[in-house]
Amino acid sequence: MGSFLSCCGPKESDEGYLDRNIAGGNTSWRIFTYKELHTATNGFSEDNMLGEGGFGSVYWGKTSDGLQIAVKKLKAMTSKAEMEFAVEVEVLGRVRHKNLLGLRGYCAGSDHRLIVYDYIPNLSLLSHLHGQFASELRLNWQRRMRIAIGSAEGLLYLHHEVAPHIIHRDIKASNVLLDSDFEPLVADFGFAKLIPEGVSHLTTRVKGTLGYLAPEYAMWGKVSESCDVYSFGILLLEIVTGRKPMEKLPGGVKRTITQWAEPLILGGRYKNLVDPKLRGNFDENQVKQAISVAVLCVQSDPDKRPKMKEVVSLLKGCEPKEKAIPTRIQSVKYEEELLELDQPSEDDVGGNPDDSGVFKSLEVQKMQDSYNHKHHGDWRLNRNV
Ligand SMILES: Nc1ncnc2c1ncn2[C@@H]1O[C@H](COP(=O)(O)OP(=O)(O)OP(=O)(O)O)[C@@H](O)[C@H]1O
Ligand SMILES: [Mg+2]
Repeated sequence: MGSFLSCCGPKESDEGYLDRNIAGGNTSWRIFTYKELHTATNGFSEDNMLGEGGFGSVYWGKTSDGLQIAVKKLKAMTSKAEMEFAVEVEVLGRVRHKNLLGLRGYCAGSDHRLIVYDYIPNLSLLSHLHGQFASELRLNWQRRMRIAIGSAEGLLYLHHEVAPHIIHRDIKASNVLLDSDFEPLVADFGFAKLIPEGVSHLTTRVKGTLGYLAPEYAMWGKVSESCDVYSFGILLLEIVTGRKPMEKLPGGVKRTITQWAEPLILGGRYKNLVDPKLRGNFDENQVKQAISVAVLCVQSDPDKRPKMKEVVSLLKGCEPKEKAIPTRIQSVKYEEELLELDQPSEDDVGGNPDDSGVFKSLEVQKMQDSYNHKHHGDWRLNRNV
């Protein structure tokens, strides 16, 4: 951890604040003491728990100066978890954008790793689409579109505006938080990858969440910005339809959202795709446009997917030329082995109210490597060979 911050990170000032020069200007975050965070979260009490993910639990807290914070506490001090912690802090230190969740600070003691963020009052998009707020219908059509566009803008920034470029690798509804105005903030950079200038893709161990994973990444670990574009396409379908990226049918068969949507798209039955919770209150042209963008994003061939710049302008309706939109989605059929890995763990039982169930983050070895590339478990800037 220390090495990340000492080699390329900020300097600690007298006050214990870290002054950083980052893309959007200067900002500062600070090192918290464990005691401070323990007090702020009422001893990490169950009552303060906001949710639980692969990394650990997230707690609401209030600092002595009245700031509301969300504290992510590492579950176990394994080397893998430590790496995610280091990546998250390192990446967060590089980004500053209105649609990306920034860092408030961290605590890295001998036996604790905690990350501190601003508390985001409307929690995650997942909680509104499928979780504790799903029945409250707070996400009307306009909000949904703002969430889609804002998330896309956050990704555009990561892919095109920071150097080196950043691939998020875990775009999904639980990693999009909603502020008090329901503006989205993309969160969770623990799986992120930095892409050096001039490198088109890397080959890595697969991390991410089944249902959102691009096929070339799920099967062969081939990672590029297009993987995020694919995941964004799935997220967009989820926002419009209110359905989960993958659902379990009676009999245990799993169906992806693209398999469900394809016949409706082919038949031009766009209205039938929209979340019934909206009770018909949506703009039909925008639905068509959003679905068309999603279809472009989830194409099997990564080279055919649009860049996030194009996605943003298409969603905003300011793309000048009429784009040829494919009407067929080649539904991704995940390999059996991958689906088998997607089983609830013991940790999931009775667990997280903000968790939609079995489709949690997973780390899987590659299934087969048709590209015959080397694989790297390391997050660092590995050139593809
Ligand atoms: N800054 C925050 N403000 C408010 N709620 C938050 C904040 N960060 C996280 N949460 C809540 O905590 C939940 C758990 O977050 P966490 O990122 O640990 O898990 P996850 O996103 O469900 O899964 P994964 O580990 O795969 O990312 C989120 O879904 C969200 O509801
Ligand atoms: Mg998360």
